[in-house]
Amino acid sequence: MERSAARGLFLRLAEGCLKMEWDSFLRPCVGRMQAYQPGLREEQIRELVSGAEIYKLSSNESPLPPFPEALVAMSEALGRLNEYPEGSSHRLRAALAEHYGVAPEQILVGNGTNELLTLIAEACLEPGDNVVYGWPSFVVYRYSAQLLGAEYREVALGTNGAFDLDALLERIDRRTKIVYICSPNNPTGVCVSATALDDFLRRVPRQVLVVFDAAYDEFVTCGFGGAAVLAAGGATVTPTTAAPAPNAAARGIAIHAAAPPAPAPAAPLAYFDGTRPFVVLKTFSKAYALAGIRVGFGFAPKPLVEAVERVREPFNVNTVAQAAAIASLAGGDELERRCALNAAGRERLEAGFAELGLKFFPSQANFVWVEVPDAEHAFDQLLRRGIIVRPFPAGGGLRVGVGDAAGVNRTLEVFRELFGGSQ
Ligand SMILES: Cc1ncc(COP(=O)(O)O)c(C=O)c1O
Repeated sequence: MERSAARGLFLRLAEGCLKMEWDSFLRPCVGRMQAYQPGLREEQIRELVSGAEIYKLSSNESPLPPFPEALVAMSEALGRLNEYPEGSSHRLRAALAEHYGVAPEQILVGNGTNELLTLIAEACLEPGDNVVYGWPSFVVYRYSAQLLGAEYREVALGTNGAFDLDALLERIDRRTKIVYICSPNNPTGVCVSATALDDFLRRVPRQVLVVFDAAYDEFVTCGFGGAAVLAAGGATVTPTTAAPAPNAAARGIAIHAAAPPAPAPAAPLAYFDGTRPFVVLKTFSKAYALAGIRVGFGFAPKPLVEAVERVREPFNVNTVAQAAAIASLAGGDELERRCALNAAGRERLEAGFAELGLKFFPSQANFVWVEVPDAEHAFDQLLRRGIIVRPFPAGGGLRVGVGDAAGVNRTLEVFRELFGGSQ
């Protein structure tokens, strides 16, 4: 055996022994977990894209910078970084309470909604418990259950791309502690309807905590999945009426953009009364364009807020983040202006996909799920042309973020190049 080959073998054996040794230290449920995979960043593909403008449309971020008021507040806060943050985020809670008309003691704040999901799981779950949610959806529901040694039950979405609340009810049993509802759902962008949620809340057992993840709620502009009429340059376009892909249900997802009457989407805050086990989670990461500073918030009954206070880190929301969030809430009509821009870009994307004969879920979020013949190949081809999206090969689709006007133009240009004439 050559020296280098022998050395390679030795290193692999040593690594294997080290891993076995470490496995005995780690909790088995942690050994089974996977690290979160963020979307690709611009610098990771710069070499691949010779000279072309790069559009990062893979992480559902805002294409715009933080609100002007937030930028000022953040730079002022920098001078106070010698001190620890205000530990209970008192001023931020007060601002959220006033803004949403909810009592301060019913408000959760965390280092992103991500942290709040983990904290709620830590407060509620024990090994042997289970959580139920639709799939595909936000992977942190799975991770937070795994972390606590709880079972996670993933239920295929309805053919309209929304959570199938009846199917979720069927998977609930004695050991179910949490049901997550993501609406608009990441990655399909479709909302659950108010009537479906009414019915679900009437039937869900009282001992089950319902966590309504409304991370994209600000972007909702109209009826849910199937809100069919899209304006494109003054023209009226109906999304593709093609039947769902033949094996789509087996893959846990189906495209159904035919235009049923659009039921009103569930407005989650209308269901929050502070007594029933119902939590609404929201974030400053998306519509407020503060993903990099990490602030999530939510509304929960007081006993759950108190439990989260016990399990959270002492200073979980930093000084700059608190200042940015407070200033953003006072940002006047900037939020509406940006959400209108997002809706216009989303409609243009969807109209473009419809013209190409591509199937997609009419979205209420800042991204659109579109089905393509080979998601991995399409992802790669888009990447080489400077468009970073998120592929979901198992579901046969791509999640395409709504960029700024230039981003939407370029995305459509590349989609036309790749898919024009091939459908
Ligand atoms: C559905 C959903 N919930 C929660 C989050 C987490 O948001 P945050 O940035 O506040 O942690 C995301 C992030 O992409 C998301 O898609």
